[in-house]
Amino acid sequence: MKHIDIKDIMSDASYLQQDVTVCGWVRTSRDSKTMAFAELNDGTTFKHLQIVINKNDFADTDLKSCLALGSSLKVVGTVVPSAVNKEGGVEINAKEITLLGACPSDYPLQKKRHTMEYLRTMPQLRVRANTFNAVFHVRSALAAAIHEYFQGNGFVYVNTPLITGSDAEGAGEMFEVTTQGYDAAKECESKEEYYENDFFGKKAGLSVSGQLEGEVAAMAFGKIYTFGPSFRAENSNTQRHVAEFWHVEPEIAFAELPDVLEIAEEMVKTIITKTLERCPQEMEFFDKRIEKGLLQKLDNVVNNDFEVLDYTKAIELLEKAPVDFKFPVEWGIDLQTEHERYLTEKVFNKPVFVINYPKDIKAFYMKQNPDGKTVAASDLLVPGVGEIIGGSEREADYDKLIAEMKKRGMDLSAYGDYLDLRKFGSVPHGGYGLGFERMVMYTTGMQNIRDVILYPRTVGTIR
Ligand code: 4AD
Ligand code: MG
Repeated sequence: MKHIDIKDIMSDASYLQQDVTVCGWVRTSRDSKTMAFAELNDGTTFKHLQIVINKNDFADTDLKSCLALGSSLKVVGTVVPSAVNKEGGVEINAKEITLLGACPSDYPLQKKRHTMEYLRTMPQLRVRANTFNAVFHVRSALAAAIHEYFQGNGFVYVNTPLITGSDAEGAGEMFEVTTQGYDAAKECESKEEYYENDFFGKKAGLSVSGQLEGEVAAMAFGKIYTFGPSFRAENSNTQRHVAEFWHVEPEIAFAELPDVLEIAEEMVKTIITKTLERCPQEMEFFDKRIEKGLLQKLDNVVNNDFEVLDYTKAIELLEKAPVDFKFPVEWGIDLQTEHERYLTEKVFNKPVFVINYPKDIKAFYMKQNPDGKTVAASDLLVPGVGEIIGGSEREADYDKLIAEMKKRGMDLSAYGDYLDLRKFGSVPHGGYGLGFERMVMYTTGMQNIRDVILYPRTVGTIR
């Protein structure tokens, strides 16, 4: 269907006084004796385009249906300067109106403002609301900026497998992948037999991270990144966990922890800057309606150094804090959300890299520090969201890695490929994982991860 994007009509002055065809959904409308007005949105812009209808010209048209909220129209008309919005705004004087799809009055997105909870019950429709229009435009701009950042810096984009035979993080949060039905287990003598009969002849699951395969690629291409889904069967019903999330994982050869932090900081700053440039209307909306002061916050992020804080120092700060934490603080604990929020929001009020965590609370592959107690790991914590990045330098020493895996009781035979990387030309290397939805939350100020992904997958629900 030949038509022109509303975005182009609004931004290109050469359409003025031209006749154009536009398509879209009616977002609001007004009807008076001789005139009617419909605000049309086709999804290409945040702002709606006003269609001015002289009712005398449309005596034979079912205007009531055309003006109904949610109905879809094709309109031919002349682009003219807006009568109300003098700042270069335009509107359309309608000449022809075609009702593409009527929308009955039980359309749930009526004019009044709905709660996020209510909108979550209708993922198929909520995306047409202004907030989601803005969220998904920003999400798309962030994704493009991520690719541009890595492509522009010589990183090779690789796609790691989603079905895997190993649990990368060793955290036991893997969804199993099986083609066996309900009765299969009953017919097997043992677990081994059950898995031997399964599709891959062994136990398989959905990958929690592409890192281990990313390391394989980095040992050939030097700098790589992945950008794809990761799956975690985490039973935590929080505002920042989903079972299926999008994961950006760069892996860099010849890099130590400070190099990894430098890239992470530069990436975060670059993608925020580009998004601010490319989505000004959306970002202004978030600043006004979702998080007051958001633009100032992001401006500070872009223009200041991130804090780098040793885990041991973080614990000292938390122990001294005049706050009654629910989870008691002592050296060795994993930081809880309340601790992360205190550090980023109360102490530093900016992004903080916490580095050198205790070995026992982190994954097996992290580089062991000379102190024998900590690893060269780093999480990036940000106000409002908490951890958005988890990364580390990797243990590149074959013997140290094997010793750690044995200590953890891991099945070495499942990690043959990974160990080979330490055997054949091992180099210092490291990388990180950015939770893409958490990045979208931080950039938009949206409070719940369920509202920045099309169809959130969380424990107990699926559709
Ligand atoms: O800290 P994580 O578990 O680190 C890894 O997976 C490493 N293999 C990354 C690497 O070094 N290549 O996860 C990385 C990030 C977290 O900081 C968080 O932002 C996000 O992934 N994440 C989730 N996001 C939404 N829902 C969940 N359930 C998430 N789990 C992790
Ligand atoms: Mg983590």
